[in-house]
Amino acid sequence: MHRSFIYSSLLAIAALDPTVALVAQPRTEDGVCTETTVAILGAGMAGISAAQALTNASIHDFLILEYRNAVGGRVWHTDFGEDESGQPYVVELGANWLQGVGSKSSENPVVTLAKKYGLKSTFSNSSSVLTYDESGNSDYRDLLKIYGEAQKQAYKDAGQMLLDNVQDSNGRTGFSMAGWKPRKDDMKAQAVEWWNWDCEAAATPEASSFVFGVAAENLTYNQFGGEDYMVTDPRGYSTIIESEASTFLHKGVRDRRLRLNTQVTDIEYSSNGVKITNNDGSCVTAAYALSTFSLGVLQNEVVQFHPPLPKWKETAIHKFTMGTYTKIFLQFNETFWPDDTQYFLYASPTTRGYYPIFQSLSKKGFLPGSNIIFVTVVDEQAYRVERQSDEQTKQEILTVLREMFPDKDIPEPTAFLVPRWNKVPWAYGSYSNWPVGTTLEMHQNLRANVGRLWFAGEATSASYFGFLHGAWYEGQEAGEQIAALLQDRCASVYGGKACGDRAHYDVLHGTTPIDAYTIINGWPLNSTHLGS
Ligand SMILES: Cc1cc2nc3c(=O)[nH]c(=O)nc-3n(C[C@H](O)[C@H](O)[C@H](O)COP(=O)(O)OP(=O)(O)OC[C@H]3O[C@@H](n4cnc5c(N)ncnc54)[C@H](O)[C@@H]3O)c2cc1C
Ligand SMILES: *[C@@H]1O[C@H](CO)[C@@H](O)[C@H](O)[C@H]1NC(C)=O
Ligand SMILES: *[C@@H]1O[C@H](CO)[C@@H](O)[C@H](O)[C@H]1NC(C)=O
Ligand SMILES: *[C@@H]1O[C@H](CO)[C@@H](O)[C@H](O)[C@H]1NC(C)=O
Ligand SMILES: *[C@@H]1O[C@H](CO)[C@@H](O)[C@H](O)[C@H]1NC(C)=O
Ligand SMILES: *[C@@H]1O[C@H](CO)[C@@H](O)[C@H](O)[C@H]1NC(C)=O
Repeated sequence: MHRSFIYSSLLAIAALDPTVALVAQPRTEDGVCTETTVAILGAGMAGISAAQALTNASIHDFLILEYRNAVGGRVWHTDFGEDESGQPYVVELGANWLQGVGSKSSENPVVTLAKKYGLKSTFSNSSSVLTYDESGNSDYRDLLKIYGEAQKQAYKDAGQMLLDNVQDSNGRTGFSMAGWKPRKDDMKAQAVEWWNWDCEAAATPEASSFVFGVAAENLTYNQFGGEDYMVTDPRGYSTIIESEASTFLHKGVRDRRLRLNTQVTDIEYSSNGVKITNNDGSCVTAAYALSTFSLGVLQNEVVQFHPPLPKWKETAIHKFTMGTYTKIFLQFNETFWPDDTQYFLYASPTTRGYYPIFQSLSKKGFLPGSNIIFVTVVDEQAYRVERQSDEQTKQEILTVLREMFPDKDIPEPTAFLVPRWNKVPWAYGSYSNWPVGTTLEMHQNLRANVGRLWFAGEATSASYFGFLHGAWYEGQEAGEQIAALLQDRCASVYGGKACGDRAHYDVLHGTTPIDAYTIINGWPLNSTHLGS
């Protein structure tokens, strides 16, 4: 009562005097910038692991500036539908899986955090799949096996290409050479291919790099284990990022080193320091800054750089691809689909990638009894769905479900949700993909620093781009490098390779021998690994 009275009188003052602005965060008067040693731009996985790496190196003077009112970035959940007692369920709009689980020798750092905080997750069994076309159930699961055989060959070929330093090709060429050549009108084969390639890359095989696409899959699944676990924790997947942040932000989100609701608009950088300006007019000066903005944010030029980024950097930003991956959620009053199966693959007779994969959350281990199912679209089909009305999308999905289950009377959903990742002003898309015709050098340019401004995030990882663990590793490495530079002990970090600027290339040289890249470049793969 008392608080709301104060708040409303502040509002009244603000209404009378337009120079009195209500700001959520403390800021200094008279345009004097807050000074800090390291400014971390973004509180997603990369920003939080960078801040923790600084803390681990005993650097406590940093500020984290975050657009949203929460920590976690693209690990983002929302309430959806309701259970029998009227309580909402929690669904993940962004990252949903622990990817790369099961290895005894090497653990995915995100899996380590999931264990530490008891994150609820369930094995995603991709063998638990039924296949459909426009006239109902149609068993074409043999095509999944045929694809799998070609994939084994393709993976070997891609490894050999890296070893031989051969020019990259796209996924289409690589798989054709390995024996997978689906006809354009074989929509069942197209559906199988979509589920195996597009659904992960959020891009077609034509648009994707063959060797780097395969290498990234290998590095995650051969190293950390071949399994995926789906997170269905009522606290949300982001609880692991929030909890980890609380290990060093001692008052949690009230630690003054975390500034939520702060939109960075301008970054002035040089070899002496960085000045960051926010949309509320507040500013921060720092010895170093680390941008963890998504590739989509960088590509949309919503943050202005002063001076403008050099051409090699700009080119790298526009060379890499930001994909879109859209999970559309539906809750029904009953589970009319087989409740012993996880996945339902649908081959549209006319359009590749048209509502191709449904996944039931109603099963035991997920959100049992929820009657929730979701369907995933990517790339062009995701853009199309974003452009049209939710009602249009809902009717299209109901038509597909009625084709898949012709014997069922399928009601209207009781809850329906379509995320629009391209409209999210702090993400502009879902996650990155390595496009065809992109060398390690071009990617190093995305990762390199400009003066005292450094870059990290999912997209800067050559090994794990697109994955949450990629963001974690990139944040950690940038944090450790900046700490080493500040403490003048970089010779002791990464065998001395952390000293000074990251490599960048003004002139590109086509292919790059893999042994030129070691872990310092975010590339732990070398000829030793490929030979084994
Ligand atoms: C739909 C979807 C599904 C996915 N599925 C999976 C999955 O199953 N498994 C998996 O491993 N990964 C998955 N990912 C990828 C994973 O979510 C990302 O790799 C990871 O979260 C990226 O972390 P980051 O720190 O690099 O970037 P972000 O999480 O984007 O963090 C950057 C932060 O910067 C902030 N920011 C942006 N602009 C500004 C600004 N102007 N001023 C201040 N702050 C700003 C943002 O709000 C954000 O918090 C998925 C992503 C999406 C979107
Ligand atoms: C910081 O140190 C802790 C304790 O050793 C470790 O668990 C954590 O992974 C480190 N964080 C980073 C980002 O390196
Ligand atoms: C995965 O699903 C397949 C097909 O239903 C089943 O045979 C197998 O036992 C399942 N595996 C696990 C670990 O549940
Ligand atoms: C992928 O892994 C397989 C099996 O270990 C290996 O033969 C191949 O060379 C690897 N390919 C790439 C591109 O990493
Ligand atoms: C679900 O709704 C439909 C249409 O309103 C109705 O016919 C059906 O009986 C309902 N199912 C259950 C289990 O209530
Ligand atoms: C490859 O990496 C391993 C460590 O994973 C290292 O021992 C080896 O020396 C590296 N080989 C080359 C050629 O860099």
